Amino acid sequence: MRILVSPASRHGGTAEIGRAIAGVLRGNGIDVDVTQPADIHDLEPYAGFVIGSALYMGSWLPAAKRFVDDHQEGLRRKPTWLFSSGPLGPAKPAEPIHADVVEHLIAATAAKEHRVFSGRLELDRLSRPERFVARWVGAEDGDYREWDEIEAWTADIAASLKALDEPTPTPGPTR
Ligand SMILES: Cc1cc2nc3c(=O)[nH]c(=O)nc-3n(C[C@H](O)[C@H](O)[C@H](O)COP(=O)(O)O)c2cc1C
Repeated sequence: MRILVSPASRHGGTAEIGRAIAGVLRGNGIDVDVTQPADIHDLEPYAGFVIGSALYMGSWLPAAKRFVDDHQEGLRRKPTWLFSSGPLGPAKPAEPIHADVVEHLIAATAAKEHRVFSGRLELDRLSRPERFVARWVGAEDGDYREWDEIEAWTADIAASLKALDEPTPTPGPTR
């Protein structure tokens, strides 16, 4: 069984989450490709998908949204999980991702679940406009990613995938 993990990342934090997810799946005996959304053309080789994006201004990055829109049918045919990475620390925004964006992503992919994980902010990595927004909303430098939560979520995904992969038992003789 081969799974596609596709994290869309602007400054690397979400890409690292994608690699961590891949590591947990591999540790459970599942083959994984980690590919950013713009580089994916064929979904056929995969038995399932874990698709994610960093959050910017309440939404997914354009490449990730485009990927979902372009491949909705293929994603709907296999089990799909979605994640977003964004909130920075205890002062989580009330709506890290706009509700209508989540609704659209879930409807397009028939995702089993969408999870929001905390992110990482390194002001030095940001463009000037991004730094302006980050300061304006009072975001502070820091790595808030919760690896235990990410690993536990992925372990549940691995268990679901393995259950799907098990042959259905043949019915015993009827009396
Ligand atoms: C300009 C800017 C806008 C952001 N907007 C959001 C947002 O709407 N919701 C959210 O939860 N996090 C937001 N964040 C936090 C990022 O999602 C977080 O830093 C994330 O870890 C970045 O991932 P990346 O390193 O993969 O690009 C924003 C950060 C910046 C710099």
